[in-house]
Amino acid sequence: MALVQAPKANGVSKHKDRSNLIPFSSRLKDGRALAQDVWSIFNAANLPSDCINLGQGYMNFAPPTWVTEAAESALNTVVANHYSHPKGRIRLREAISKFYGPTLGRTLDTENEILVTSGANEGQYSVFVAFLEQGDEVIMFEPYFDQYLPSVTFNGGKPVYVPLHPNKTKLHPTSNDWAIDFEELRRAVTPRTKMIIVNTPHNPVGKVFTRDELEKIAAIAEEFNLLVMSDEVYDCLVFDNKEHVRIATLPGMWDRTVTVGSAGKAFAATGWRVGWLIGPPSIIGPTLAATTRIVFCSNSPLQEAAAAGLEQATERGFFEKQLAEYAERREVLCNAFERLGMKYTLPEGSYFVLLDISEVDIPDDYPFPASLDGRGRDFRACWFIAMEVGVSSIPVSEFYCEEHCSIGESFARFAFCKDLETLKAAGERLQNLKKFLKK
Ligand SMILES: Cc1ncc(COP(=O)(O)O)c(C=O)c1O
Repeated sequence: MALVQAPKANGVSKHKDRSNLIPFSSRLKDGRALAQDVWSIFNAANLPSDCINLGQGYMNFAPPTWVTEAAESALNTVVANHYSHPKGRIRLREAISKFYGPTLGRTLDTENEILVTSGANEGQYSVFVAFLEQGDEVIMFEPYFDQYLPSVTFNGGKPVYVPLHPNKTKLHPTSNDWAIDFEELRRAVTPRTKMIIVNTPHNPVGKVFTRDELEKIAAIAEEFNLLVMSDEVYDCLVFDNKEHVRIATLPGMWDRTVTVGSAGKAFAATGWRVGWLIGPPSIIGPTLAATTRIVFCSNSPLQEAAAAGLEQATERGFFEKQLAEYAERREVLCNAFERLGMKYTLPEGSYFVLLDISEVDIPDDYPFPASLDGRGRDFRACWFIAMEVGVSSIPVSEFYCEEHCSIGESFARFAFCKDLETLKAAGERLQNLKKFLKK
């Protein structure tokens, strides 16, 4: 409806309503970009002030001091306070090459096969910018990392969802019990499929994809000429001596795979926004063109700090020590669920545990906020748990398309990237859930 124009005063026409003069881009309408997301609903500001936050996946502890000291030193030089090369600082690219080369079984060319990005997230966004045409389809496994969706749709892509299937009958499931139905995956491929995203270790399931699974995915990628985005930001968090296989190392896969890493996850520094992409020049080159136009370059001093981290990690045994600390954190949280007698998925990687919340008896007349209207049962369960026992978590249906969201509705995601004291306190509080479990 046309707005009624009032006479001009001082050259400014007085619309009756000036609150939305400029229409925003229609691209925001897809990909849930405008929907109130789970992070703002379960934001600390909406929850009781003493609620223990196991919702969002960031650490409540600092990066190692030898890494933050490297950041301080960088800040005290002139060059590291200024623009870096869009490919990333050479020191960091060299450190990535040295650290990742052996794990990929090749010598990495620092000029053409490595790209430093502003967090893994911006790197992934840049790959979509560089490779998607309008209507290209991108396959993602559910539950998926929520940023994939708007990053794909903003760039004209169409998400195609393939759910991982939880084992409902096992009493003590692990993340490996979340299975891929390969027939379903094959059916999801169409002539418009351009890309498949593999996330291993997986957020939020904790699944570490097996060699056999990755070989089957690789065979499909090869048959249908797909670009593989291998999101391996949790590659330093693989428990129980499970093998982390990089899909880029499987026969023929280097040429079609971009491997994604994150200093935020590796060095407990999610706010630094430093990440990297590794792949063949045919993928890194176009992605460099995209990232240069988006951010030009990434944060300079923190690239230096990430470089110091990778340079010294092996000698310091850092990732082994960090893994042992996370294994203890995982144990504290899982032990709390054991004591409660609730079913959960033991994660083999990453720092999340999925709790099966089907047995939580939520009173029909519980006062839920309007923001939960129309959302899944898991939203109500997470809210109820936060209010009644004082521990926040994230409802997993958020990470599914509408058609498949009933799978996610049975689960709440708890993050254990928190110090032991916090996890122990959360574990004690969670025991109060017992009285709300169905008999
Ligand atoms: C699976 C996955 N990929 C990518 C990212 C983004 O990493 P970064 O913080 O480096 O952008 C996250 C962060 O939570 C994640 O869980």
